[in-house]
Amino acid sequence: MTPENRIKGLVVEGLAIVSADGMIADATGVQPEALKLEADQRFFHDTLNKADAVVHGRHSGEGGPSAERRRRLILTRRVPGIAPDPSNARAVLWNPAGASFEDAWAALGLSGGLLAVIGGTEVFGLFLELGYDAFHLTRAPHVRLPGGRPVFPGVPMHRPQDLLRNHGLNPEPARILDPRIDLELVTWRP
Ligand SMILES: NC(=O)c1ccc[n+]([C@@H]2O[C@H](COP(=O)([O-])OP(=O)(O)OC[C@H]3O[C@@H](n4cnc5c(N)ncnc54)[C@H](OP(=O)(O)O)[C@@H]3O)[C@@H](O)[C@H]2O)c1
Repeated sequence: MTPENRIKGLVVEGLAIVSADGMIADATGVQPEALKLEADQRFFHDTLNKADAVVHGRHSGEGGPSAERRRRLILTRRVPGIAPDPSNARAVLWNPAGASFEDAWAALGLSGGLLAVIGGTEVFGLFLELGYDAFHLTRAPHVRLPGGRPVFPGVPMHRPQDLLRNHGLNPEPARILDPRIDLELVTWRP
């Protein structure tokens, strides 16, 4: 069941850029310059500009000039369930161990729209279980980040593509974002 079915009018889309070995960050937890690629950043920010809210872990804010005005859910274990973010009136802090996604979404006070899931690992994994309406996976095939932070729990034992497929998502034809570096974007949908 996708979140759209669970919450009326809500569409949930994930966005990630991964290395050939399925990593979103290096072994120190930092997203390296090799994964900050102009064509992908353009797609990422264009999609976020269409979103009504974003959801991410405490280390994965998108940054950039529009970030301040966006509504957001920030995952953290520093609160028992749901709490206002004392440092950002547009954000809600959410601990999924103490409150459901439905309650967290309701706390944002939006009637529906597009929620962009932007990581990191556990957050991408949580929504894999809750259900994506789309997952936009960009792959940089010439970058390897051994021991890095995977896009989903279970990578690199399993390929991200196999986990998406196992969760009922199917790939659309690939779009080449930058032919010079074989940068490829595949959108997966139920
Ligand atoms: N390549 C990409 O597409 C991409 C996408 C996203 C992030 N990144 C990069 O990946 C790195 C961060 O990865 P990460 O996985 O460490 O980051 P993260 O998910 O943003 O942050 C981890 C923190 O978020 C909170 N959190 C995450 N899952 C939770 C859960 N299930 N329940 C409650 N709280 C939860 C916890 O905060 P507390 O400590 O407050 O409890 C945890 O310490 C950064 O370098 C970022 O730039 C890359």
